[in-house]
Amino acid sequence: MIDLASKTIGEIVSGDYRTAAIFSSMGIAYSWRGQETLAHACQRKKLSLEEVLDKLGTLLQSPAGRDFDFAYWPADLLADYIVRKYHRYIRSRVPVIKQVLQSLVFSSGREQPMLSQVLGLFEKASQELERHMQKEELILFPYIKKMVPDEKGMRKFDGGHFDGVRNTIWNLMQDHEVEGERIEQIKAITRNFHSPKDADDGYKVAMGLLRDFDHNLRKHLHLENNILFPKALQGGVMGELVNG
Ligand SMILES: [Fe+2]
Ligand SMILES: [Fe+2]
Repeated sequence: MIDLASKTIGEIVSGDYRTAAIFSSMGIAYSWRGQETLAHACQRKKLSLEEVLDKLGTLLQSPAGRDFDFAYWPADLLADYIVRKYHRYIRSRVPVIKQVLQSLVFSSGREQPMLSQVLGLFEKASQELERHMQKEELILFPYIKKMVPDEKGMRKFDGGHFDGVRNTIWNLMQDHEVEGERIEQIKAITRNFHSPKDADDGYKVAMGLLRDFDHNLRKHLHLENNILFPKALQGGVMGELVNG
């Protein structure tokens, strides 16, 4: 258990995604700030490391659920999976959520001005996420596919221009932080996507959709930041070593 303290939050969540719930309850942004060690995160949040280790220990000893072990997936497969599952999800949900929020602002925006704020934040997030996903699909992911050796052990990527790839990854991680903070802001304004007892159906639907979007985005950013991008960096360094 002691070595867990020196592991990064991203490594712990990558090892077992069930730990994400513990970090969420502690207010630790494992998806976009997973680079700090557990010991450091506890210190920063003024939490008892021992208590957190205890909670993690209990959880890790219980039988694991049926989540995929993404850490062992080849990078190209993971990149494809992310596009098919998470990028597709964003593109299909954004118009629906926007429409639900717009009609909610129209019907109840005067009594609840925070709804316009939520709509504004969501619209900004959707624009930025689309731009961000295009960068991944058109620039980074094609590189990742070239880095993975084929059946004969040959790689199409020779390590050239790797500084550019490194910068792209760094920029994408910055985007993750901005979008992570933005969804965090929506979560805070809506008091954790809460619907008051007397809320109408439209309000409840909007909060349910936003909660699902938040959950999905956290997993998406975690898979990229903590698993796919480190794999890409490692693959690129290997290319540099072979050809440098
Ligand atoms: Fe993505
Ligand atoms: Fe991303």
